Amino acid sequence: MTTTRRIGLSLGADLCWPKCFEDILARWNPTLKVGGETQRFEVERVTIEPFDLRRRVPYDVVIDRLTHWYANTREWIKKAILLDDLYVFNNPWSVQSMEKQTTYCAMMRLGMPVPETWMVPPKDYEAHVDLEPTLKRYARYFDLETVGGAIGYPLFMKPYDGGGWVGVTKIDDVGALKAAYEQSGKFLMHLQKGVWPWEHFVRCVGVGPQLRVVAYDPDAPLHARYTERHDHLPADVLAHLRAVTLTINAFFGWDFNSCELLARDGVWHPIDYANPCPDSQVTSLHRHFPWLVLAKMRWALFCAATGRPFRKTLDWQPFLEVADTDASFPEKLARYSAIAEERLDTAGFEAFREEHLGPLEEVAWEYFGGDEARNAVRKKVAALYPAHEVDEFTDRFWAAIQTWRAEESAGRPA
Ligand SMILES: Nc1ncnc2c1ncn2[C@@H]1O[C@H](COP(=O)(O)OP(=O)(O)O)[C@@H](O)[C@H]1O
Ligand SMILES: [Mg+2]
Repeated sequence: MTTTRRIGLSLGADLCWPKCFEDILARWNPTLKVGGETQRFEVERVTIEPFDLRRRVPYDVVIDRLTHWYANTREWIKKAILLDDLYVFNNPWSVQSMEKQTTYCAMMRLGMPVPETWMVPPKDYEAHVDLEPTLKRYARYFDLETVGGAIGYPLFMKPYDGGGWVGVTKIDDVGALKAAYEQSGKFLMHLQKGVWPWEHFVRCVGVGPQLRVVAYDPDAPLHARYTERHDHLPADVLAHLRAVTLTINAFFGWDFNSCELLARDGVWHPIDYANPCPDSQVTSLHRHFPWLVLAKMRWALFCAATGRPFRKTLDWQPFLEVADTDASFPEKLARYSAIAEERLDTAGFEAFREEHLGPLEEVAWEYFGGDEARNAVRKKVAALYPAHEVDEFTDRFWAAIQTWRAEESAGRPA
């Protein structure tokens, strides 16, 4: 008997990766024998409509890109996990409730070298009937200069729950600190010691147990911030970055996340790792884009085919038990990462990949050399760039994808 496993894509503005995902799966159209079952796979875009909470959703796995801002779909996903045993990445409860602040606190607790970070009460407030008595009774006057002095300069002011660089300011002295606070309005802000100047800046993109470490240039224009360089650091550093990223991702139940780390004096400081809906566009990822499409597809297929159970609660206790031991940080990290690799089932995934996913790599490599892929890139570029730049940028991103293909074929047996 043949069963069909169904993958849902819950999408907003994304254009390029879902199209490539669908095209590649259609081209390959695999039939896999998994656990004595013959399986076929379908992918479909999740639509937005009224739903009966008790009506089963027709998917085994959903890749979700909406939860962080769109409540209807988020609540549909929660229902589907609880009532229908859906597997989704990422965990919607965790996406909804974990801000930067929580992630900083948690990784400080695990002993990671998160830079010194303070929270300061906001400059302005939304109106509230209790606001005046509350502030009058309990808000202490504070001296920003003292806080800035305790942290040291440069420091970064940024929203405690931020993303997308909104409201982030580099601050070099007390005058700039006071000015930035005046401007901060109702934002609740962190002040964080700058890892400055840094020697390396990386973004570590994780999809399940798959990781790509990309050198990042925050000063470049948007299309060039992810640089071309990846997995470029010595093996022991890459192993460290893997341990840190997978620990963070497993801790928060984020199968798909991007962690920013800066190195200074040989120490890797995680600074921004609450990014559970990472940029997936070809216009940012260029030569890393095919890797991401494939990584999502491998993980979705693995989860769908094996019926990977969805971890509904985060269960931090095993990590905290390690954190509370007297072990050194490297020893603790090794133990966190063992928990993470187990939770992400690295061994099971690698075995599945080895046994079933070989042909996928071939199909994708061919696909990313053809017109369908080029059209998907062009569509995304056309949605983002002015008309007179569409040709130029399509060519540029296409060339980057061809670099990925050359790199892949160089790595294969002839
Ligand atoms: N502690 C820090 N040290 C050095 N640079 C920082 C620090 N915090 C933030 N930055 C810079 O500011 C940028 C935006 O801050 P980040 O914490 O990543 O916020 P967002 O979530 O908005 O991306 C970072 O990519 C980095 O360039
Ligand atoms: Mg960031």
